[in-house]
Amino acid sequence: VGGRRHPSIPLPVDLFGAEGHRNSAGLDLSDVATLEATVKAVNAPLAPAGGAVDLAVASADMPSPNPSREREGSDVAAAIGLAHAAFPGWSRTSVDDRAACLERLADLLEANRDELMGICVQEAFKTIPDAIGEVREAADFCRYYAREARAKLQPMELPGPTGERNTLHIEGRGVWTTIAPWNFPLAIFLGQTVAALVTGNAVVAKPAPQTPRIAAAAVRLAHRAGVPKDVLVLVPGGPEVGAALTADPRIQGVAFTGSTGTARKIARALLDDETRPIVPLIAETGGINAMIVDSTALPEQVVADVIASSFRSAGQRCSALRLLLVQADVADTVIEMLSGAMDTLTIGAPGDPATDVGPVIDRAAYDRLMGYRESVRTRWVKTLDVPADGLFVPPTLIRIDAIEDLNQEWFGPVLHVATWAAGTLSETIARVNAKGYGLTMGLHSRIARAAEVTEAEAAVGNLYINRSMIGAVVGSQPFGGEGLSGTGPKAGGPRYLYRFCAERAVSVDT
Ligand code: NAD
Ligand code: ALA
Repeated sequence: VGGRRHPSIPLPVDLFGAEGHRNSAGLDLSDVATLEATVKAVNAPLAPAGGAVDLAVASADMPSPNPSREREGSDVAAAIGLAHAAFPGWSRTSVDDRAACLERLADLLEANRDELMGICVQEAFKTIPDAIGEVREAADFCRYYAREARAKLQPMELPGPTGERNTLHIEGRGVWTTIAPWNFPLAIFLGQTVAALVTGNAVVAKPAPQTPRIAAAAVRLAHRAGVPKDVLVLVPGGPEVGAALTADPRIQGVAFTGSTGTARKIARALLDDETRPIVPLIAETGGINAMIVDSTALPEQVVADVIASSFRSAGQRCSALRLLLVQADVADTVIEMLSGAMDTLTIGAPGDPATDVGPVIDRAAYDRLMGYRESVRTRWVKTLDVPADGLFVPPTLIRIDAIEDLNQEWFGPVLHVATWAAGTLSETIARVNAKGYGLTMGLHSRIARAAEVTEAEAAVGNLYINRSMIGAVVGSQPFGGEGLSGTGPKAGGPRYLYRFCAERAVSVDT
């Protein structure tokens, strides 16, 4: 594929090399002294108090980040009460002032990068490159939404007859709750939250129960950046807390990222009470993401991109590749090369800079994935040995007979492979579309027509051609799916902020 739209991409030398979060200044891991200092910092015991981001909690609006604690319904009600009372004042602040808070927060995130990375590594088992990506993406969201808000949230004068002045105002809706997953415990948690804040809403933010500490650190920094404590209230807890939040009629919007099943429950809860206002739900969920490889693709590049897309972050990305579809003529070659490349993966402790694949998030995820893997043992094409002590799921390649044989998102380092016949590209895409998910899809081909067909027919939010399928960059690759994968709008995109807003048209007879 030539031309500007599908440039040929040089062969990567480092399978898990830089992900491309290029908007913010990052960390140069090729500098040995910097790398050593960073590794030492991220592996240092987390300071429960007194660290730069200070996890100690004293105030009522910042509950103790205790992973095992389910907060009572009355605590949730109190948190919403604080935010509800704070909303009118915050909504009257200028867009400039709110944007400035986000920019200060981005600076604070970068200034406290090593400590934040340490929490990501120790609480969420992020590898060091993934922990860097978390901090960079979180800062990118803050800067991008600040810029977007300044550009787009100004009142608009509209035409009318002589003697009439028409103005369209855009402003916050009220109290939003933001509900986050554990797999991007800083970037997604904060991205949703700062979008709601900069548009003039107050926020009650709920992190995943597995990752309350990183959320507490982020919220503390947001307060330090100037967001009033009652405008952003953190409520740690699990599904019961999430359900209590979405059931409260004072909530004027929900920004949720997590599984499709939970999104359905939230949608039902929001409609359950007939006396309640109808509120927007932004739901970004999972996918059964496929990559289609034809016989013209460069096998070395395919293998590098498949490895990164399916095994980086131990496969715990919503964007991750789950189903590799290789044209039958080249399947043996690609699978053999892929198996060889899997042997080069280093599986180990997340804080070790040599680690490519760390443990999965918790025992429940481990048991689920290991149980599934065991149930398809006869279909293994390749699997790896892993350290015995820890929640390490062996990266595994599983052969399936048909695209229809995979109907569930397996959220870990398990990749399925099937073949497709030459001349059936459209049919293959249609069979993937028929699953009803629509998050990411990949194509590897050097035929321009194949790229055009895939672009026209793939029903996904993010299509990646001749590259990996992970690591969407804020402002360059707005991220989010369709169908069972989400409602939109796209995070990190130019239309995201609008969904958080109410619009008011004011007409004055002058
Ligand atoms: P999950 O659905 O189990 O939990 C997500 C959040 O919802 C957590 O904070 C949880 O406590 C809360 N929750 C659970 N039940 C609730 C309820 N009834 N009401 C309100 N809140 C409730 O998901 P997870 O395991 O934390 O995350 C992994 C999933 O997230 C995967 O499916 C992945 O694909 C998806 N994901 C999607 C994106 C995206 O942008 N599309 C990004 C990251 C993760
Ligand atoms: N934004 C994340 C990625 O693209 C989910 O991998």
